[in-house]
Amino acid sequence: MILRASLPTAILALLLHALASAPARADALAAQRAEGREVYGRYCVGCHGEAGDGRGPAAAMLITKPRDFTKGVFKFRTTPTGTLPTDDDLLRVLARGVYRTSMPEWSLLPDRQRRALVAYVKSFYAEWEERGAGTPIALPRPPADLATAARVARGKELYAMLECSTCHGEGGHGDGPSAKTLQPDVWGNPQHPFDFTKGRLKSGAGVEDIYRTFMTGLNGTAMPSYADIFAEPDGENVKEGDAWNLVAYIVSLRTPAAPAGKAVP
Ligand code: HEC
Ligand code: HEC
Repeated sequence: MILRASLPTAILALLLHALASAPARADALAAQRAEGREVYGRYCVGCHGEAGDGRGPAAAMLITKPRDFTKGVFKFRTTPTGTLPTDDDLLRVLARGVYRTSMPEWSLLPDRQRRALVAYVKSFYAEWEERGAGTPIALPRPPADLATAARVARGKELYAMLECSTCHGEGGHGDGPSAKTLQPDVWGNPQHPFDFTKGRLKSGAGVEDIYRTFMTGLNGTAMPSYADIFAEPDGENVKEGDAWNLVAYIVSLRTPAAPAGKAVP
C-alpha cells in the first residue's frame, strides 16, 4: 500500500521538479546571455559588429574578415562537415584566437565570461537551439613514430591521390592550379588555400589540428572534409593509419625554423 501510494507521488514530484526547473534553466540562460552581451560589447563588437554580422567598424580595415555569426557557419570545429560547433569548439577558438588573423586570443578572460560569450555568440543564429551542435568526430592521439620517412613518403602519395595539391599546390605553398579560381567563401570574402610551408595553422599549433581540419573540413570555404574517405580504408587506395601518414607529409612541408638568434627577414 505504501509502495502504491509513493510511486505516483514520486512521479508527481519529478514532474513538478521538471516543470519548475525548465523556467529556471531559461532564466539562467537569459542571465548568461545578458552577461555575454556586456562582455561582447566591450571586446568583440568592434570587429564582429553589434548585430554579430561581422561588420564592426574595424572590419573594413581587415584582410581576413571577422566571422558573421548570423549564418550559423563556423570553420573551426571538431564536428562533422555542415554541422554547428560545440561549446568546447567555440571556447577553444576563444582560448587560442585565430593565428595569422586579427582574431585575438582571450585566455586572460575568466572562464565564466568566456562561457557567457559563447552563449551570446550562439544567440545571433536563430536556429541554433533547434539544430544543436554536431557530434564530435573521434580524434585519436598521434602515433609516436609520426615523423618516420615511411609515413612521410606514404603521405606524399595520398596528398597527390586526394588532390590536395589542386588547391594547396604541389610544394604545399597554397598555389595549386585551383587556388586562383576559387569563388568567394559563403560570407563573400576571397579565400586562399593554406601555405603548409609556413607551419602553424590558423586553428592551432598541434599535429592534431591538421588531422581535425581535413577530417571535418572548414565550413563556408572550399576546404572539404575527407572523413568519409578515411572512415573505411579499403586496404588499397586508403589503408589503416593513412590519415596520420597524410599529417606526417604536411608537417614535412614546413620550412625549418630559422636558427635562434638569427634575424628572420
Ligand atoms: C580585431 C578583430 C577581432 C576581435 C576584437 C574579435 N574577433 Fe573574433 N574573429 C576575427 C576574425 C578576423 C575572425 C575570422 C578568422 C577566419 O575566418 O579565419 C574571427 C573569428 C572568430 C570566431 C571563429 C569562428 C569560426 O568560424 O570558427 C569566433 C567564435 C570569434 N571570432 C569570436 C570572437 C569573440 C567572442 C570576440 C570577443 C571576445 C572576438 N571574436 C573578438 C576578428 C576579431
Ligand atoms: C578545393 C580546394 C581545396 C582542397 C582540394 C583542399 N583544401 Fe585545404 N584548404 C583550402 C582553403 C581555401 C583553405 C583555407 C581556408 C581558410 O583559411 O579559411 C584550406 C586550409 C587547409 C588547412 C589549414 C587550416 C587552418 O586552420 O589554418 C589544412 C591543414 C588543409 N587545408 C589541409 C588540406 C588537405 C590535407 C587536403 C587534401 C586531403 C586539402 N586541404 C584539400 C582549400 C582546399
